[in-house]
Amino acid sequence: MNRNSMFSKWKLVAIGAFCFFQSSCQNRPSKETEDATIDYVTETVGDVDFGKTNMSAYTPEIRENMKELYDDKFGLFVHFGPYAQLAGEWQGKKGAAEWIMRRSFIPVSEYEKEAAGKFKPEKFNAKEWVDIAENAGMKFIVLTAKHHDGFAMYKSKNPYNLFDFTGFNRDILKELAEECKERGMKLGFYYSQDQDWHEKGGAGNDWDFGTVIKPEDEFDAYFKEKAVMQIKELTTNYGDIFMVWFDTPFQITDEQSQMMMDAVKENQPGALVNARLGNGYGHFDVSIDNGTTPSVSKATWLTDLKVPWQTHESVTKDGWGYTTRGAELDRSGDYSDFIYSLCRIVGNGGVYLLNVGPRPDGTIPESQVNSINAIGEWLKVNGEAIYGADPSPLKFPPFAITSKPGKVYLHIQNLKENQVELKGILSKVNKAYVLADTSKQPLTFSQENEKISVTIPEELQQPRVTVIVLEIEDNEAKIVDETIQQEADGTIKLPVSKCEFSIRRISYDYDEQVTHRWGENTKQGLLWTVNVKKPGTYKVISEDSGNDGFVYYLSTSNDTITLNSKGVIGKLTKKQQTGTIKIEEAGVHKFTVYPKVPASKATKGSYKFKGLELVPVE
Ligand code: GLC
Repeated sequence: MNRNSMFSKWKLVAIGAFCFFQSSCQNRPSKETEDATIDYVTETVGDVDFGKTNMSAYTPEIRENMKELYDDKFGLFVHFGPYAQLAGEWQGKKGAAEWIMRRSFIPVSEYEKEAAGKFKPEKFNAKEWVDIAENAGMKFIVLTAKHHDGFAMYKSKNPYNLFDFTGFNRDILKELAEECKERGMKLGFYYSQDQDWHEKGGAGNDWDFGTVIKPEDEFDAYFKEKAVMQIKELTTNYGDIFMVWFDTPFQITDEQSQMMMDAVKENQPGALVNARLGNGYGHFDVSIDNGTTPSVSKATWLTDLKVPWQTHESVTKDGWGYTTRGAELDRSGDYSDFIYSLCRIVGNGGVYLLNVGPRPDGTIPESQVNSINAIGEWLKVNGEAIYGADPSPLKFPPFAITSKPGKVYLHIQNLKENQVELKGILSKVNKAYVLADTSKQPLTFSQENEKISVTIPEELQQPRVTVIVLEIEDNEAKIVDETIQQEADGTIKLPVSKCEFSIRRISYDYDEQVTHRWGENTKQGLLWTVNVKKPGTYKVISEDSGNDGFVYYLSTSNDTITLNSKGVIGKLTKKQQTGTIKIEEAGVHKFTVYPKVPASKATKGSYKFKGLELVPVE
């Protein structure tokens, strides 16, 4: 894939839904949160290309670590900070996890006293943390060095930190860095560069400091004196840093993103930076929290470097940090989902960061450890299908599929029947076996035209996720043409389940087969590739949930029609749109939809889009 031809026109768009604050201000909506027009900076490319950030340079050091990230696939995210002390409760009322300061509008002075001031993780033990990551089969750890509450979890010159503020006198980041180094575990840190609720100039705190977005000069002073300074500390004092994970770029300018990038690079030329640094900076794209995709995305690959996207989930519920209600849960019923998430993400070209939220004393609850251990156990047997694996050769895999030269791995969750069918692989299958079966007993299978059917005897069916290996004749699987075909009656179906879209800020719901948060950015395109045999005029039937306020465009190469969701917010309905669209010539066409205005106002953030049907007009 040629990067230049595919991603010729870059566009950076600051988009409009200030969702975090909207959802965080249920108790006290302010004028500013309603009108705010700043959120993540999302980039789209050209007319139909998308899903690519304007990535920072891939130097040889970056390439080396990027290759490792691609092979590693799986890392531990840790949200740990003074919020753990409050455990999801403020003044006897239920509060958020790591967002509790903002959501309960806790004044800085109170938070300092009740959260930060009491926070002494006496039982923090770096060895235990690294054990947990290692047993889970994770290859790197990303710890929140400073979250939105502004508290640094390491010994910093800024006195609001774990070493100095409470007199804890231990640098847990140093302890972790040393342990990681000794154990060959890679280390990264999360840093909230933009929001800092402790500082007058940091974004986010309007209950102490009046506004969410700060005057430029005040933000700039905070940014240089605290954020950049701390990134310099973090990149000089803790050895090799694998990754820096920035977050929520609300008001950061291009120049400031550049400055931060330079600060990282100066001391850690190999450190991978995620795209939430803002303004298109960063080396790999990050989905929205818990984001998934309907299709394989290689949008960020270069010709000679596979650049994965990344998504993250938490084994805790109700947020990323510790709460008594969300972080002590027995989630054994969900183990198979966590494992399958990993399979699905890797199968679609991504890497997975799975989060734990330690208790205020620094220990990670057993229930959380059990969740990730279950993945580790599974990986010990099935790791071949994950580590270093390429995504599915089929762009729209019906279940999680990964591949390696000469092999295709089918990941089947909770296998109950003894027959698995797959359509679309054309390469001749020489042998099929269950990966967990060390004797590699050949499975009975048939292969006709494009359909492969494998029989798995009951005794070989694995708990949670069974991986079936297909050894194929070709190094890289040959597949059918996945271009959408026009139906015999002339209908053209454009379901979201068969589209491609940008990773960030959109997610896909596998059960309902709808988008989640599509439409919040006017440059968020969804793309279908269709082979049109009968050109002509088509009426359009849409299926979505939203009201009149949401308007979007459907385009082909020679026509564009304006569509309207026209329905009831939250209710998926099919309706015929006014107007028609023309397709002048037969052949392969790209169909795209783009929002005309950000969807949030017309959909209250719950907009779901299921797809379109184009029906020929007689
Ligand atoms: C969001 C939240 C934050 C969390 C992060 C994890 O951006 O603001 O609390 O750290 O997602 O991905």
